Amino acid sequence: MEQYIIRGGKPLRGIVDICGAKNAALALIAASILTTEPVIISNLPDVSDINLLLDAIAQIGAVVERIDRHTVKIIGATVNSCTLNYEYISKIRASYYLLGSLLGRFHKAEVAMPGGCVIGARPIDQHIKGFEALGATVDLEDGQVKAKADELVGNHIYFDVVTVGATINVMLAAVLAEGSTIIENPAKEPHVVDLANMLNSMGAHVRGAGTDVIRIRGVKSLHATEYTVIPDQIEAGTFLFAGAATGGDVTVNNVIPKHLESITAKLEDLGCFIEEYDEAVRVVAGTRLQSTQVKTLPYPGFPTDMQPQMTVALTLAEGISTVTESIFENRFKYAGELARMGARIKIESNTAIITGVEKLKGAQVSAPDLRAGAALTIAGLAAEGCTQVGGIEFIQRGYEDFDVKLRSLGGDIRKIDPQNQNEIEKFKQKCS
Ligand code: EPZ
Repeated sequence: MEQYIIRGGKPLRGIVDICGAKNAALALIAASILTTEPVIISNLPDVSDINLLLDAIAQIGAVVERIDRHTVKIIGATVNSCTLNYEYISKIRASYYLLGSLLGRFHKAEVAMPGGCVIGARPIDQHIKGFEALGATVDLEDGQVKAKADELVGNHIYFDVVTVGATINVMLAAVLAEGSTIIENPAKEPHVVDLANMLNSMGAHVRGAGTDVIRIRGVKSLHATEYTVIPDQIEAGTFLFAGAATGGDVTVNNVIPKHLESITAKLEDLGCFIEEYDEAVRVVAGTRLQSTQVKTLPYPGFPTDMQPQMTVALTLAEGISTVTESIFENRFKYAGELARMGARIKIESNTAIITGVEKLKGAQVSAPDLRAGAALTIAGLAAEGCTQVGGIEFIQRGYEDFDVKLRSLGGDIRKIDPQNQNEIEKFKQKCS
């Protein structure tokens, strides 16, 4: 497996273009098979999670035609199976969105139960509650979630927790149901709104996405569309924090600044200067980052997907900071890796207590998951000396050309084969 090798200590400077949002695109791909007509999705990020979901829909018969690196044409008319192989779901949790879309269109879906993962147990009880409210029976057999319905009928659904996945899955199932569905306490993330907009462009009737109540009036069928994925606010936030942590000056381009407000507000708390443009946001780091308190919350709160990047910045901030994780119970796994770089972090229950240090020191670390991997890379770019980041296949699940983009901002980062000791030694000599 490849790794990143980084010579840290250089402030990142420049402009970086942000891709389409991975987590929106996953929902849009699932939505595309709700119709028999062609759907063209553009601004898709070229990352492994997206490519795996495209493989998964091809595996059940959809035609998936690449138009260019970021555009795909999907024809769902040829879908001939409602059963998804374990191989796919085990690689990518979001293939459970095919439960919603297959149930919606064919009234039948069998998808392997997604396992827990490194960041938490991630139950799917609210997805099941939603499907059952629409009239489906849902059984768990041999590790498969089996959902079926004679007919799907709209209903009033109240989610017990705010969940992005269940909100999206129930929307996918309800758009073709008989009558009206009301979802209360839905997730309000930009990708929920993006899915509603795409479904509406296909002839669905979804109102209120992004608010406390989503109302869906079922329609008989959906039709062709051409749709562009919204920009990825987490990728954008990651580059802004890379700018802040390295003491740099970074502008993220092709973004919706409104989606970044909880992130930019925290960067200001850290003592950074923020400038907003129509489709870009710039961060300029202050002389030394300042400590702060942060708690992850559903949108519009501070995103859990930015928690590790925030923690890395705070390891370098003056004073004592706290980061409280309220969404996933196991999202501080990377703290031990950061400690190996000289960070002073104590985890108490779901809170990290961080005493800022002047400098991090390069070390060999391993990414436990996608966002933590990005955060450890940022730590390496900010640290003195040489850092090797293993587990970069996690990073490649959600960041397109991460190392290339960081290099374009002046970061000294290379992808290497860990077996190639010559190359590693040569790079390390530069660090000393
Ligand atoms: C989505 O996961 C994202 N994934 C995650 O991004 C993100 O961290 C998360 O939302 C929160 O914003 C995708 O969009 C593909 P949830 P999801 O359902 O939908 C509990 C990344 O790095 N819950 O909003 O799985 C759950 O345990 C990934 O890109 C239930 O209790 O998250 C959690 O505590 C990681 N029962 C909370 O709700 C359920 O049935 C929120 O989870 C469902 C969820």
